[in-house]
Amino acid sequence: MLDLLLNGASVLITGGASGIGAVCAEAFARQGAAVALLDRDADNVEAKVVALRARGHDALALVADVTDDAAMALAVNQAARWRGRLDILVCCAGISGPVGRTAPDIAPAEWAQVMAVNLGGVFHAARHALPLLETSAHGSMVVLASDSSFVAYPGMAPYSAAKGGVLMLTRALAVDHPRVRVNCVCPSVVDTPMSRTDLGMDAVQMAEAPFPVIAPAQLANHVLFLASPVSAPMNGAALIVDFGYMARPSFPQPEFGG
Ligand SMILES: NC(=O)c1ccc[n+]([C@@H]2O[C@H](COP(=O)([O-])OP(=O)(O)OC[C@H]3O[C@@H](n4cnc5c(N)ncnc54)[C@H](O)[C@@H]3O)[C@@H](O)[C@H]2O)c1
Repeated sequence: MLDLLLNGASVLITGGASGIGAVCAEAFARQGAAVALLDRDADNVEAKVVALRARGHDALALVADVTDDAAMALAVNQAARWRGRLDILVCCAGISGPVGRTAPDIAPAEWAQVMAVNLGGVFHAARHALPLLETSAHGSMVVLASDSSFVAYPGMAPYSAAKGGVLMLTRALAVDHPRVRVNCVCPSVVDTPMSRTDLGMDAVQMAEAPFPVIAPAQLANHVLFLASPVSAPMNGAALIVDFGYMARPSFPQPEFGG
């Protein structure tokens, strides 16, 4: 059996109250890691931590907004003091911003908010976590980018621009901090509260969607792999998780059997 070597690791997850972040927290906890969940949603992050502790896992709730640099300094350092070190940072906090509108109908404040949360939020977390991760034997950072780092969904320009930035921030941090591995995962649609809201679909509609949908637990496997020393040679990498869509050419594809 593949051992991800995450038992006893000290992990901080931003956006841990919902969706991918919450499911990653469960997955790390099942590997024996101590997980600090950070979110601006105090009620839900507390509830997730209570549920994890009820199942015997080691969990801590931290309430902070990833756009607030001072609050992130406090929260990241609190996470590190909790178990005496920080080994892994997973950046999941994010918002969709405007959906279904193009540039002339997007207010500058909406643009700025998407940049502040989706791109600035990764910067603030990294800024305070990297000096701590550099002291870990296996310091690793995994960032939730998106297939939107490469392709633009219609009507989501701020989100695509921010996620393109997240891809390059991942590479830049990997170059600047060689003692810490920094990788990102770039999924297409994952079934979470965010995607259900954006697409106007409920659980049943998602299950029957006429396009492929990634289960959050499946995506968490990719995040754990990138965070784990098992993927040690991978650094500055973007793991595209999109059912092969980006591998396809525009040329009409012949039908092959099987
Ligand atoms: N769901 C998808 O289809 C999909 C696809 C590709 C990438 N992603 C990315 O994955 C990440 C997680 O998305 P999700 O689908 O789990 O969304 P979600 O809405 O279920 O969870 C996002 C979490 O981030 C928190 N958050 C938002 N703004 C914050 C802030 N300023 N400070 C602190 N916490 C904040 C929210 O409270 C929430 O708990 C996001 O970065 C998203 O862009 C999602």
